[in-house]
Amino acid sequence: MLSTERSSVMKAGIESMGMYVPRYALDLRELAVARGVDYGKYRQGIGQEIMAVPAPDEDVVTMGANAALRALEGVDRDSIRTVIFATESGVDQSKAAAIYVHRLLDLPPRCRSVEMKQACCSSTSALHFALASCALQPEHKTLLIASDIARYGLGSAGEPTQGGGAVAMVVSTEAKLLQIDPVVGYYTSDVMDFWRPNYLDEALVDGKYSIKVYKQALEQAWQHYVEEGGHAFSSFERFCYHMPFTRMAEKAQSHLLRCAGKCGGEEKLLPMIQSAQRYNREVGNCYTASLYMGLLSMLEQDPADLSGSRVGLFSYGSGCMGAFFSGQVLPGYRDFLNTQAHLDLLNEREMLSIAEYEHFYQSRLCEDGTAQELEVYAGGAFRLQGLRDHMRLYGERQNSLLTELESPLLSLGR
Ligand code: CAA
Repeated sequence: MLSTERSSVMKAGIESMGMYVPRYALDLRELAVARGVDYGKYRQGIGQEIMAVPAPDEDVVTMGANAALRALEGVDRDSIRTVIFATESGVDQSKAAAIYVHRLLDLPPRCRSVEMKQACCSSTSALHFALASCALQPEHKTLLIASDIARYGLGSAGEPTQGGGAVAMVVSTEAKLLQIDPVVGYYTSDVMDFWRPNYLDEALVDGKYSIKVYKQALEQAWQHYVEEGGHAFSSFERFCYHMPFTRMAEKAQSHLLRCAGKCGGEEKLLPMIQSAQRYNREVGNCYTASLYMGLLSMLEQDPADLSGSRVGLFSYGSGCMGAFFSGQVLPGYRDFLNTQAHLDLLNEREMLSIAEYEHFYQSRLCEDGTAQELEVYAGGAFRLQGLRDHMRLYGERQNSLLTELESPLLSLGR
């Protein structure tokens, strides 16, 4: 095919998506009772119902590999030339999490594998880097993995906004779900709203300030998107936002409405973001994966056929950087989704008691090089089996060394 003919049929964007959420979760009604808080604050005030709780034998690598396994269904693995792993919960200062995933998924050796960081929004820069790569080498595909664990102090204001999970996507010129528009609006500013020093296990956050900065970044990124020739506000049928908690999407949407100079029309806001909120409400924050879990939720749960609809997306990473961009849902997208598998993943989770949640929260990996074999808790195909000589040992769950109990929670005295 001549290159001009080929470019006329190429659609650069997201070809496939897969999600993984941990096998365990905490119903926030339980947390509300334990912390002496009215559940209405969690349910209505921050918009969360359930939060995912990663098991001691899972981390961003295993969650990312599990999500990627699904995203790669029906994709020729030999076409993957780049693996980008976006996370702010990295497991090593040097080695990219992408390399562990590359091995677990048996991807071709002629492949580059890197990790990217900028709080919750490196996944969006990764997406745009992958699209730039598509422009240079249209036949090469990128596997993009966003995987994170949100962790705040027990009893802190941030505790109900924890969560964890991963979304993986194949980015290529054979997009089947979302074609990405070329215009992006950016905003960067050096602020301390949320950060995670290397020597701490929990994030530090100035909660109220972080919400203020999020809205400021949205406003600035939107203005830049408009200046760069982006689509008018009225051309969007849906919006997806980074969702540290789902109520944030509502705050963001009314703020954007004001920034776009729209007075009134608040009643139309919710239907534009509601389907994107569904999965996040039951999973919680998963940092780099949050925006894309929202996008997946919208594609899989929106009652309307969104073929041809233009979607506005806002990615926010504390510290801070924001990016506003857009895309168009492709006709026939529903044929390329994994809706039932994702619903099963969400519906078949085991709910933890507060004691079990706190036990998981407090579990730590050995830091002195002692060999450690981990009990089998994690769901999915891959898990962290243990540690040896400061090395993480990943493998398939079915080949775990320890024998799995019928319910692993039995070992916690359930
Ligand atoms: N029924 C209904 N609503 C109630 C209620 C009740 N009984 N009690 C309180 N509420 C409402 C409050 O009125 C408030 O609503 P508004 O936001 O509309 O004012 C809401 O519930 C939350 O109440 P508070 O403001 O009192 O909550 P808080 O001080 O406990 O903290 C938080 C909330 C700041 C989000 C906190 O959970 C936190 O720090 N989370 C982590 C930081 C975060 O997620 N920041 C978001 C922006 S940064 C970002 O996006 C990057 C990232 O991923 C971290």
